[in-house]
Amino acid sequence: MADTAITVEGAEKTYGDKKALNGLGLTVARGTVHGVLGPNGAGKTTLVRILSTLLRPDAGRIEVAGHDVVREAYAVRLRIGLLGQHAALDEELGGRQNLELFGRLHHLGARRARARADELLERFGLADTGRKAVRQYSGGMRRRLDLAASLITEPEVLFLDEPTTGLDPRGRAEVWSSVRSLVDGGTTVLLTTQYLEEADQLADRISVVDAGRVIAEGTADELKAETGGDRIDVILRDAGQLGAAVALLPLTGISVDADRRLLSAPVTDRMEALSGVVRALREAGIEAEDVALRRPTLDEVFLHLTGDDHRVKEAA
Ligand SMILES: Nc1ncnc2c1ncn2[C@@H]1O[C@H](COP(=O)(O)OP(=O)(O)O)[C@@H](O)[C@H]1O
Ligand SMILES: [Mg+2]
Repeated sequence: MADTAITVEGAEKTYGDKKALNGLGLTVARGTVHGVLGPNGAGKTTLVRILSTLLRPDAGRIEVAGHDVVREAYAVRLRIGLLGQHAALDEELGGRQNLELFGRLHHLGARRARARADELLERFGLADTGRKAVRQYSGGMRRRLDLAASLITEPEVLFLDEPTTGLDPRGRAEVWSSVRSLVDGGTTVLLTTQYLEEADQLADRISVVDAGRVIAEGTADELKAETGGDRIDVILRDAGQLGAAVALLPLTGISVDADRRLLSAPVTDRMEALSGVVRALREAGIEAEDVALRRPTLDEVFLHLTGDDHRVKEAA
């Protein structure tokens, strides 16, 4: 079997005069989680619909599990699972019944469907609530049941379109741990998200998409390094001294968060920046509550990559 589970080259899709995909390309290695990270309208759902054969691309070479999504759509369908933004669960049925029904719809025999339902309920921590009607489930439980349903057919490749949008932090954490257990089972996962933290937590590699194309690709660490590496954060005791500190600190590209009495700036030489900041503050008699070096967050990476970092004010 090939090492590549998903290949997308030059994918294009236009709705009317709106270009949803504009030459998008990515490669996903078998058995890995690939994050497609981008804001609303970036083209994530369009990509997932094309990969799962629900929508035809206008152009591009797109292969999933070794088959072309246009010419061999049926072969692709046999090998994939899809968790969309809206799931098709029967609210009145219990979790176990829903899964059995899904199994029967996918032509599993009655006994096999029941066994698979039990296996999946167990795997996603839903064994105790299998009898409860789905309308009584929490958001996180519901999404885990969706996930279980998408795995009934033991897909080689699973697509998750914003799997935690709308969930509270607890539900999100539950879904994250379920996705991790999937990968342990060998499934290749392509997951779309607007949450930088989610991609950071789950994805082996990340494609950052904007306006229908990939604007950056790599591991979370590589993407963070690409924005210029480390940052220094300085928290002052007195917010009234922020302006003075910006003027005298030996840093460029300083951003200011007045509510948190925080100054933040990219640094090239960590130790030089740290000692320079401490010395400058001491000489000016400005008291700092904390001075710390850190890696950038993915939020900063994304703002930087999309050229949308107008929140960063250059020091005068
Ligand atoms: N059926 C459609 N008809 C017209 N425009 C659409 C349709 N579906 C999506 N779009 C547009 O295509 C772009 C990409 O949409 P989508 O793939 O849903 O992005 P995302 O999932 O990243 O939010 C958006 O500008 C959206 O408004
Ligand atoms: Mg979407």
